[in-house]
Amino acid sequence: MALCGFVALAACTHQAQEADGRDAEIESRIESLLSKMTLEEKLGQMNQISSFGGSIDEMHDLIAKGEIGSILNEVDAKRINQIQKIAVEESRLGIPILMSRDVIHGFKTIFPIPIGQAATFDTAVVYSGARVAAIEATSTGIRWTFSPMVDIARDPRWGRLAEGYGEDPYLTSVMGAATVKGYQTDNLSDPTAMAACAKHFVGYGAAEGGRDYNSTYITERQLRNVYLPSFKASSDAGAATFMTSFNDNDGVPSTGNKFVLKDVLRDEWKFDGFVVTDWASASEMINHGFCADSYDAAVKSVKAGVDMEMVSYTFVKQLPEAIKRGDVSMSDIDNAVRNILRIKFRLGLFDNPYTDEARSAKELYADSHLLEAKKAATEAAILLKNDGVLPLTDKVKSVAIVGPMADAKHDQMGTWVFDGEKDHTVTPLAAIKELVGNKVNVVYEPGLTYSRDNNKAGITKAVNAARKADVVLAFVGEESILSGEAHCLANIDLQGAQKELIDALSKVGKPLVTVIISGRPLTIADEVQKSAAVLFNFHPGTMGGPAIADLLWGKAVPSGKLPMTFPKYVGQIPIYYAHNNTGRPVEGNEVLINDIPLEAGQTSLGCRSFYLDAGWEPLFPFGYGLSYTTFEYSDITLSSNSLTTNETLKVSFKLKNTGSVEGTEVAQLYVRDKVGSVTRPIKELKRFARVTLKPGETKDVVFELPVSDLAFWNIDMKYVVEPGDFDLWVAGDSQSGKPISFNVK
Ligand code: NOJ
Repeated sequence: MALCGFVALAACTHQAQEADGRDAEIESRIESLLSKMTLEEKLGQMNQISSFGGSIDEMHDLIAKGEIGSILNEVDAKRINQIQKIAVEESRLGIPILMSRDVIHGFKTIFPIPIGQAATFDTAVVYSGARVAAIEATSTGIRWTFSPMVDIARDPRWGRLAEGYGEDPYLTSVMGAATVKGYQTDNLSDPTAMAACAKHFVGYGAAEGGRDYNSTYITERQLRNVYLPSFKASSDAGAATFMTSFNDNDGVPSTGNKFVLKDVLRDEWKFDGFVVTDWASASEMINHGFCADSYDAAVKSVKAGVDMEMVSYTFVKQLPEAIKRGDVSMSDIDNAVRNILRIKFRLGLFDNPYTDEARSAKELYADSHLLEAKKAATEAAILLKNDGVLPLTDKVKSVAIVGPMADAKHDQMGTWVFDGEKDHTVTPLAAIKELVGNKVNVVYEPGLTYSRDNNKAGITKAVNAARKADVVLAFVGEESILSGEAHCLANIDLQGAQKELIDALSKVGKPLVTVIISGRPLTIADEVQKSAAVLFNFHPGTMGGPAIADLLWGKAVPSGKLPMTFPKYVGQIPIYYAHNNTGRPVEGNEVLINDIPLEAGQTSLGCRSFYLDAGWEPLFPFGYGLSYTTFEYSDITLSSNSLTTNETLKVSFKLKNTGSVEGTEVAQLYVRDKVGSVTRPIKELKRFARVTLKPGETKDVVFELPVSDLAFWNIDMKYVVEPGDFDLWVAGDSQSGKPISFNVK
């Protein structure tokens, strides 16, 4: 207190911090409350139910008895206030309920799906997406969302990748942290702040075969080097809660995994929020064959470090007996309840449990939210190919708009849209008509009515429309139901007759611009080859149409980059840029299947690591994306070529816009640790920056990289920087650029 100046006095008196960063006043309120709670009330806090707007009367008694800690799936401010009133005024201790919902990429105003947000490589856009989602959702009283999903996904068959930030630990870490900040702000008690939930802890994205919920076999080192960093980043960003994952890793379901929930999360990372199971993942440990019955499931979850159970009720039903028998101790329960109450206090729920019912009317679909959503969708679009047809110019007097995704109001919103309404969606068809007015003749002939449509009858009409147009705009891709949770595919080609549609259009002889709207990377080598230009959009949300229209007509310039590697064939999966080297890497002159001489000798092709039919390269690498302009990297210099582990490397370079329109480049810094006590990835993304340049303009850019950021979990399972030689690249994607060497002593 003596150190407080006049100005800082208010802040200084307000929050006395304990040594571990906790608020002393909150901790003492927790202890005082805990001392008054019965076992039933404690277990009530650990119990989350899903109401789906069901009858409040049915929940009334349980709430009044203090036997519900959190409710999932309430979305109406009046109802939420009514429910809260029962908890606050009728329950013995008046503990408020934590209202939760999957608000994943927007509440009403829908932003691009998270994998699309990752493609922006723009943390500010991702932050604003989360902020808008929180402002809208909290206006109804929702104060906890189950996001961000920071699972690393290296398999495009896994439909759930739509909800994450892709294959890379660094990109996922920074995007996840920006999302946490966007939801929570720096002050969780702000009425527009919503508690984040880092999920799914951990390894869920490595599901065998890309089939959801499947087992994973991630070693501890790979867990620490690849799958845990994004969760650590969310924890460091202050994520209030964590969710366990459905998968078992190396035989241990996450909900019963003490190593990750206690040893790593609590002891190493000092996380002091609470851990919730995924939906019934406690009782699903019986299916896994890890628990004999629901008693066993409750005991193993709590002993492993779970605090709250989502909807399977094993805690409320089984823990009283488990305590009697001594299988679970009262201090296990008290710790869980402390963690839950801590977040309720931090959210300010005890002091301000109700929602201002007038807020929603002002905040849902606010103009500023729609503008932010359009910006996100614009930055998320990735130009994969352009022979010069884009952007469309005044010379284009007529366009044929074809394909099932041109006017798919529902589907362009993507997965996890419980609250967004399709009537608010602006489709590319509507936006293009609006943008070009009567200057361009727009003929709409979808050819197929939805992405899985196999009825080819309409293709002829689409082809006829194409014949009469100057340019053909084909909107193909995936309906929203084809990606997301439990929606995996073994074949990731365009579905239905979309391949035939593109093929037929490509034969018309008019420039074919293929616009893809999808929930995952697709195998589109044929379609890319047959198109003059390809603009790829992960489901872009409410304002996807205006964003795409602007991009096609050059009112905006594409700047998105791929957050996942695109394979040529599904058989190349898993395929990701940051793989380790084999002892026999390709040399670049490998002979592929059609060039193998007849009766070639067994070893005549060399013995290298590649596919005879697919080679070694992806269709498009991680980090790839074109612009309407071009960029040149030059004068890449390092502050030093020899550093010690406590120094910071400065990488400076010049970036020039060598084209004729203003554009934004995502400059990327990759590093390779050449020799390690264990083998290391051939490249790892370490930094990126969006740089906007006028035609002809050059900017000096500097990346700062503390050498400590080169640390990894080594042979002794220690997180260290191992001295030695490193290579570094600065480039516009993960396959370009020339290496520059430096050394760490
Ligand atoms: C199951 C999903 O895996 C999880 O991510 C989600 O938050 C919960 N259901 C709640 O709906």
